[in-house]
Amino acid sequence: TPSQSSARRKAAVPPYQKILSGFEDVRIVLGSSRKLTLAEKILYAHLDNIEESLLQNTNNGKDIRGNANLKLKPDRVAMQDASAQMAILQFMTCDLPSTAVPASIHCDHMIVGEKGADTDLPNSIQGNKEVFDFLESAAKKYGIEFWPPGAGIIHQTVLENYAAPGLMMLGTDSHTPNAGGLGAIAIGVGGADAVDALVDAPWELKAPKVLNVRLEGKLSGWASPKDVILRLAGLLTVRGGTGSIIEYSGPGVETLSATGMSTICNMGAEVGASTSIFPFCENHVPYLRATGRASIIDAVKGVAYGNDKHNFLRADTDVEYDEQVTIDLSTLEPHINGPFTPDLSTPLSKFKEAVEINKWPKTFGAGLIGSCTNSSFEDMTRVESLVKQAHAAGLRPKADFFITPGSEQVRATLEENTTLQTFSKAGGIVLANACGPCIGQWKRTDGVKKGEENAILCSYNRNFPGRNDGNAKTMSFLASPEIVTAMAYAGSTEFNPMTDTIPVSGGKEFKFEPPTGSRLPGSGFAIGNPAFLPSSAKPDPAVQVVVNPESDRLALLEPFAPYAEGELQGLKVLYKVKGQCTTDTISAAGPWLKYKGHLPNISENTLIGAVNAETGETNVAYDADGTQSSIPELAKKWKSKSQQWIVVAEDNYGEGSAREHAALQPRYLGGRIILAKSFARIHQTNLKKQGVIPLTFTNKDDYDKISANDEVSTSGLWDVLQSGGDGNIKIIVKKRDGATVEIPVEHNLSKDQCGFVLAGSALNVLARKNQD
Ligand code: F3S
Repeated sequence: TPSQSSARRKAAVPPYQKILSGFEDVRIVLGSSRKLTLAEKILYAHLDNIEESLLQNTNNGKDIRGNANLKLKPDRVAMQDASAQMAILQFMTCDLPSTAVPASIHCDHMIVGEKGADTDLPNSIQGNKEVFDFLESAAKKYGIEFWPPGAGIIHQTVLENYAAPGLMMLGTDSHTPNAGGLGAIAIGVGGADAVDALVDAPWELKAPKVLNVRLEGKLSGWASPKDVILRLAGLLTVRGGTGSIIEYSGPGVETLSATGMSTICNMGAEVGASTSIFPFCENHVPYLRATGRASIIDAVKGVAYGNDKHNFLRADTDVEYDEQVTIDLSTLEPHINGPFTPDLSTPLSKFKEAVEINKWPKTFGAGLIGSCTNSSFEDMTRVESLVKQAHAAGLRPKADFFITPGSEQVRATLEENTTLQTFSKAGGIVLANACGPCIGQWKRTDGVKKGEENAILCSYNRNFPGRNDGNAKTMSFLASPEIVTAMAYAGSTEFNPMTDTIPVSGGKEFKFEPPTGSRLPGSGFAIGNPAFLPSSAKPDPAVQVVVNPESDRLALLEPFAPYAEGELQGLKVLYKVKGQCTTDTISAAGPWLKYKGHLPNISENTLIGAVNAETGETNVAYDADGTQSSIPELAKKWKSKSQQWIVVAEDNYGEGSAREHAALQPRYLGGRIILAKSFARIHQTNLKKQGVIPLTFTNKDDYDKISANDEVSTSGLWDVLQSGGDGNIKIIVKKRDGATVEIPVEHNLSKDQCGFVLAGSALNVLARKNQD
């Protein structure tokens, strides 16, 4: 209510003076005539050492994108509860009194969706109390804003409270780019990267390429912002944005709402983009005002218009992009993407045909709307208009209908607006303001069994097998909340609400009119339950962060031992992996997520998905005497005998999500080297941060010369580490029959990374710096 609005917290205004002065230096280093994209401007303005970052390896600043190693100082960090655990445990080892930049923790991932918020929330709090208490106490001690369970989903809370044009932030979640809808550069990272920012160490990023999506025209009727990104995912595929930032431009931008732009940026993660961004525009103003941040509007206008010589908050005219795609909003029709991958994109008008051709289920059991992607006031009021039409015609949804508000602000505002009551009257179940079914925390009660083929429709962002209900046979189709809702009334995947009708009593037929809604609530957003407001950002050194030594969910981290002098000798090959080895193969998710804050316990899943190159078995390892065990069992056995080890693997080792546990776990169990045909870049960096040395075969065929239980020593490694990355390395393999083979290998250790290996980990380097 307006009276609540006056009780709002002070708006978090980005440090514009500092950012602009950084940008002025960028202009000096690159020359004022150099044209830059918006994404480049914001990123480069946040560089720690502008000259070094922009001029080294870049043909003197000419070829920055794809080449420069950017060392960045983000303005803030946001962490969700699952990934915050390891980030905080790592931060604690640095022994600092507070975080170097503003930070927030959001309790959203560990909350179940089942019967509705009133029962699900208290049950989930009870089940995860130990973890929530740990995060809350750490937040209070170090001055991190703590958003308790029920407050909202990280990306929605960030959008309402922290995102602002020109800001650069890191978030420990893949959909952090959601904040790009308000003109921020927001990048999803692992906990170890977040710790870099929290302790004021520069965070490294290979300068991304910039892919421009030009929007023409204006959406109308059933088409929504969700359809822009569903269409783009179809055009680019799940890998099309890799190594790039997606930057939107064109006259269509001005026609979208701020929350619509966020939906589009949120799902840029589905095409592999580093992040996505919209330029600051007039439609951001009412959203900032409605969320109580008028002070940001003034500050931003100063930056955008008052400093025209900088032209900071938009791309330079005629700047060149690495790639360009155009989407005409005027002719865009709704799309449905899936199943099992977000880039399988089908226009609504062709979906019935696709269902028949692919033999997808003709009925679906649940329609789920909301989540961090699509729970804006605009989304929900447009859905409300459809629900009211159907209600007036005497219809109820045929499929179960779940609604997840993204935050307490959204929920309370929708309650004031009676939108939620409309949904409940129609039979909808309003879940907690949390991730719930979007992250597999959905306890289905509709009788669908594990392994049973079935379909659901949702307005979320990901639809990999098992993502929502843990059933790999559930076909999850992604669509706008409007399409999900209208189709839920038919319960049929063949129903097209734009053209088809539903029979109603009296032999009549009901046809939906296109949805209509409001972008923003008339008198601003309600704050809702004050218990969901965050804790203060003032550090309190008196707070004790308690981790019960008996806990199976949390364990304090012991720093890894520093590198001892000389070559590595007497390592043994623990396992020779055949074929694909993703971060999920190395550190499985699902039930293991529970142990994210307990390194010894989660290490029990190390490499359990890896195929043994010698036997074809999965997760079956053999000790030298032939004893058979699982991979983690053998690793533990060797750790107990101080036997250090190496893993041998094929191409693209560590592809998939940037899961830092996939580097931490091998290191914890005694792994020193991963020798592969090639690495996924982010995982390779993660390994080095944890003090594990990634090496690649100079000749890929040499993979065949090495076997499990062979003994391995290095030659040249010590010189490389001491010189800061110069020199060649080979490994000497002692076969079990006594023969010796020398294998030349490659490394790409930088000077800093040699320091990480020598210190035992990047964290040890940071901790040491803080002690000095
Ligand atoms: Fe992620 Fe879905 Fe939550 S995308 S932040 S799991 S609502």
